[in-house]
Amino acid sequence: MKEVFSVSAIGSLELKNRFVRSATWEGMADEAGRPRPQYLETMIALARGGVGLIITGHAFVSPEGQATPWQLAIDRDDCREGLQEITAAVHAAGGKIVVQLAHAGFFAAAGITGRDRLVVSPQESQDPSPQKEIDKQGLQELLGAYAAAAGRARKAGFDGVQVHMAHGYLLSQFLSPAFNRRRDGYGGDIHNRSRIHREICGAIRDTVGKDYPLLIKLNAQDFIENGLTVPEAAAAARLMVDAGVDAVELSGGTIISGRLSPSRTKINAPEKEAYFREEARWLRENVQVPLLLVGGNRSYEVAAGLLAEGAADYISLSRPLIREADLIRRWEEGDRRPAACVSDNLCFAPAFEGRGIYCVTAERKAARSGKIVREEP
Ligand SMILES: Cc1cc2nc3c(=O)[nH]c(=O)nc-3n(C[C@H](O)[C@H](O)[C@H](O)COP(=O)(O)O)c2cc1C
Repeated sequence: MKEVFSVSAIGSLELKNRFVRSATWEGMADEAGRPRPQYLETMIALARGGVGLIITGHAFVSPEGQATPWQLAIDRDDCREGLQEITAAVHAAGGKIVVQLAHAGFFAAAGITGRDRLVVSPQESQDPSPQKEIDKQGLQELLGAYAAAAGRARKAGFDGVQVHMAHGYLLSQFLSPAFNRRRDGYGGDIHNRSRIHREICGAIRDTVGKDYPLLIKLNAQDFIENGLTVPEAAAAARLMVDAGVDAVELSGGTIISGRLSPSRTKINAPEKEAYFREEARWLRENVQVPLLLVGGNRSYEVAAGLLAEGAADYISLSRPLIREADLIRRWEEGDRRPAACVSDNLCFAPAFEGRGIYCVTAERKAARSGKIVREEP
């Protein structure tokens, strides 16, 4: 049986407990993608708050791949200093941290990047910004971008990297028939649709070596018409583990999946928690590496139950740690009340305004009771 608060490992990465902060776009970088002081404070609070592993919000590996404003960058060597500040701060606070490597593809913010959107296959779009179908040279450039980003991550002191293959962004688009209609070796069956992912994992391994922790975040299913399905996701996961992946974080949904998006609302009862638990059971039978499960984890009992029954090896959380950075320490110290997060997704809005994510609901509640909880950065 897995002890919730005992030491375990993902490859060479030793972790003090089984709780992970799932990648969460912070919106706390500057215009050049370097962390602002608020970013560092947030990471320190998470590390002190007891979570075993922090995964940063998505960091773009190449300039046209930026998804959101004030997003962390890892696309150039001059990002190194800022990235090093993050790892140094987290390590000094006793934490471990992995950086999430990402490219938004079709969903890139062309208004910010000023570049064409890279697409797997041309898409109908309300957005008039130009699309560029990825050609042979583009595929090579992508491999180079991910490998170089992983190399920067290692040099900057990250404890590993996670490649973002979920939620409808570029590598999720390759996996999904809704986005991928290619006729070359990168389209067609799931073996072909997961080819670029395996090549990226190989290129990363060539750069950082075989012992550097390499995680992926993968959709169990897309919940869109013609999207990735569970059996295909399981097949893709198996292929990627064969390509050298150390752990799979299971998620689901895309940014266009409506109420079945990755961050579902109204998680207000234990049976609504861990909303990919069934898919996790499926995946479990297919992959032998550690499985991280994200999506609606809110109570200690449900989390501990999933670990005990072997449905997952690690429990990942995003929104609950925005509201309570110290949730895991609270649980460890014996206060086992569920996370206070009400899953209303109001945390996104301030980040789009340049103020970084925070729990708007907690702030409103505190304001009603006359407390000032936060000063503008
Ligand atoms: C503000 C916010 C930003 C997010 N940014 C990312 C991201 O950068 N990368 C990613 O893989 N998922 C991202 N997610 C999704 C979460 O990691 C997670 O999969 C989802 O919210 C479900 O988990 P939860 O119920 O614990 O919040 C984000 C979610 C939120 C609320």
